[in-house]
Order: sequence, then C-alpha cells, then structure tokens
Amino acid sequence: MEKQLKYSTNSMQTSKREGFSTSLGVMAATLGSAVGLGNIWKFPYITGENGGAAFLFVYLICVSIVGLTVMISEFIIGRRGNAAAVGAFKNLTPGKPWYLTGVAGVISCSLIMFYYTTVAGWVFAYVFKSLGADLATKDPNVIKQVFADFTGSIWAPLFWQWVVLITVGIIILAGVKKGIERMTKTLLPILFVLLIISDIRALTLPGASAGLKFIFEPDFSKITGVTVLAALGLSFFKLSVGMGTMTTYGSYMGKNENLPATAARVMVSDTLVSIMAGIAIFPAVFAFGFKPDAGPSLLFMTIPMVFNSMPFGKVFLALFFMLSSIAAIGAMISLLEVPVAYLTEERKWSRTAATVASALTIALVGSTATLSNGILSDFHLFGKTMFDLFDFTSSNILLPLVGIALTIYVGWVLGPRAVYNEATNEGALKNRPLVRFFLFIVRYLAPPAIFVILLNGLGLFS
Ligand code: TRP
Repeated sequence: MEKQLKYSTNSMQTSKREGFSTSLGVMAATLGSAVGLGNIWKFPYITGENGGAAFLFVYLICVSIVGLTVMISEFIIGRRGNAAAVGAFKNLTPGKPWYLTGVAGVISCSLIMFYYTTVAGWVFAYVFKSLGADLATKDPNVIKQVFADFTGSIWAPLFWQWVVLITVGIIILAGVKKGIERMTKTLLPILFVLLIISDIRALTLPGASAGLKFIFEPDFSKITGVTVLAALGLSFFKLSVGMGTMTTYGSYMGKNENLPATAARVMVSDTLVSIMAGIAIFPAVFAFGFKPDAGPSLLFMTIPMVFNSMPFGKVFLALFFMLSSIAAIGAMISLLEVPVAYLTEERKWSRTAATVASALTIALVGSTATLSNGILSDFHLFGKTMFDLFDFTSSNILLPLVGIALTIYVGWVLGPRAVYNEATNEGALKNRPLVRFFLFIVRYLAPPAIFVILLNGLGLFS
C-alpha cells in the first residue's frame, strides 16, 4: 500500500513503486514462491536418495533455523532498502560493493530458471500425457520408457519449455498486483485441495505403511556431512532464499506487515506441503516395489503407477500433474521477477522489454539444459551435463555464498538497531525477545554454519 518514503535518496522512484496490496496477497505471493517443484519433485527425490526420515529430521532443523533466518534477513533488506535485489543494497549502503550480493542473486535466479523451466515443461506435458494412452499401463518398464523417450527427444520438451515461459511471462507482464498477487491467490487453494486428494489416495493403498516408515522413522546412522549439505541446500531452495527473490518480494511489502511472522508462516506452510507431497509419493513407491532413490525421475515414473491402480486413475493423474504445474508457476513467477525487477529498476527498461528479454534468454540458454537429457547428454562442462551444472552452481555454490553475505550484512553491517526497527515495525510490534533471538542467530550462528557447509560441499573435509 502506501509505502513510506523513508529514504530520500530515491524518493521519486519509490513513490511510484508497485507493491502487494494486502497481507493475504503478501502471504500468497511468498508462499506461492516457496511452494514449487522443490516440494513435489526435489524434496521427495532428495529425501529418497538420502535415507528418508533421518534426512527429513536434519532438514527440519536446517529450514527452521538457518532457512528462516535468511528469509527474515532478505525481507528486512528488501523492505528497508525499498528496492529489488540489487537496488536495496545500493540504497542502504551507497558506494559499497554489497550490491554485488544482489547481482549474484540475479545470476542464480537465471541459472535456476534455465533448468527449472525444463522440468516444469515435463510436468505441463504430463498433464496431457496422463489423459492419453501412453501412460495408461501398469507396466513400470513402459512408464520408464515413455519418460525416457519424451525427455530424450528434441522438439517436444523444448516446445513445453516455451509454453512454460510464455505462461509465466504473461503473468509477470501483468504486474505485481494484477499478475503475481492475483494468480498466486487463485492457484494456492486449488493446489491444497489437489494435494489432500492425492494424500488420501496414497494412504489408502495396500502396503502404504512401509512408505510412511521410510519418511517418519529415522535411522540416524544415515546422517553424514553430505546429508547435512543436501538438507541445507534444499532448505534454501525450498524457501526461495539466498538468491534475491525474497529481497525483491520484501520490497513489495507494506510497512505494516509483520516480517518475522510472515516468514515463519511461510516456512511452516511450505514444510507441510513438502511432507504432504512425501506422503503422496513414498507409500506408493513402496507399495509398487519401486526404489525410493530413483533420483529426479521419481515423480514421472512412480506417480503414474500410483494413479493407474485406481478407479478414474487418469483423471487423478492429470490432476496431480496439474497441481505440480500450479506449484511450478508460482515459483517461476518469483524467479523471473528478479531479473525483470533488476532490469526495470536499475537499467530503466520497460517491464515489457525486461520480461521479453529475460524469457528469451532463458529459452535460449535453458534449451541446453533440456537437451542434455537427449542429444546433449554426452556434452559435459566441469564433469557435469548442462542441466546438472546449472543446478549445482546455483544451489551448491552461489546459494551458500549469498547466504553468508546476506546474514553478515544484516547482522553486522545494517546492525542491531536497524534490524530491530525493521523487524518490529519501528517498535509497534511486541516481538522483542524473538527479534533478539533472530539477531543472535543471524550474527553468530548462521554465517559460520553456512560457511562450514560450503567447505564441506567443496570436499575440503574428506
Ligand atoms: N522455492 C521454489 C521451489 O521450491 C523454487 C524457487 C523459487 C527458488 N524462487 C526461488 C529457489 C528463488 C531459490 C531462489 O520450487
């Protein structure tokens, strides 16, 4: 709403900035960003690869301590800086190189979009495939083959990647209120209903209990340095933090929003969605004799098997992929908004030019990620396919680096006074002890913790 012009440096510009209109809109947009393929695709397959419940346990610790801290930090930077990822740092600390943190964010969001749109394209395509004859089989080998043939081909997956980009581009073009806020407010409730239906179905499968054991009965011997790194990386990815997204969204929030509470609500809801997705998937994996560690293809092979074994399976299968498409759209909106906001605010491009240029770049570079599952599968850079390279560089390297920079920035550069004012809405909120706890974590715990995990991820301890 009416954003106060707290900062005279760019008051002309800030008075015209568009923002979210209501608290509900804020919640929908941020939760819409957090909930995505991360919950329905990444979370289940990474949990599956890392031993189930033990991983979930480590994940819960990472997300509720480190992930949440970084999210609050980003909200604070964005709203106090009153500009998107790069501009916020420039407003708060003019003439200092901190804005490079925002630049790193713009780069990582683009890297994520390169491969995220590939997977989102598969999901879109599967909405239609599930209604056709291809997947209407109970033979796991046929289902595997359908997936391999589709993702390994050239034009079909590229076409779907473009459909994805056009859809998201149109929403971004419509603007912050009419595009982002309105779409996420409509889509999220539909997503919840579809998820509940899927859970009920999975829980009533014969043999569901083995899958529930897998995600809820931890075997702590499975926890290693690698598990912790994977959990931390996933918690950042899940909450859309460490990349400037939440900084940008923070800058669209009115001065009456309770930042720590919003962050906590988003964190809890997002984690619930992940667990619900796990409940929809793992009982089925075990019931049908699949292995939980199938990796990235888990969603595309096991879910069709689940729904094919029930009445009206086709319809439910299409619904499940629709749910995934909806989740993916909300997340991609927030990813695309970061480069678009950067180009419009910092480079003074029009919103249309910024959106079209970003989408075209993603389509072009992202096609290498899409094709790395087919004709480019033998093309490796630094020992990785393009798809894996985009994922690894953004999630395992840039994300922890930006995370460290953000927490040091909030804890030590902005400092306690500014953090206190921003997190309590200039003293209006009665959350003093909470803010004190946040300050402790953001100053002393988060930076070294993220640093150790970065070193561990680079293999320095082994
Ligand atoms: N959180 C989203 C998911 O789980 C992905 C996402 C959206 C994201 N915006 C982001 C990840 C920004 C990192 C940074 O699918």
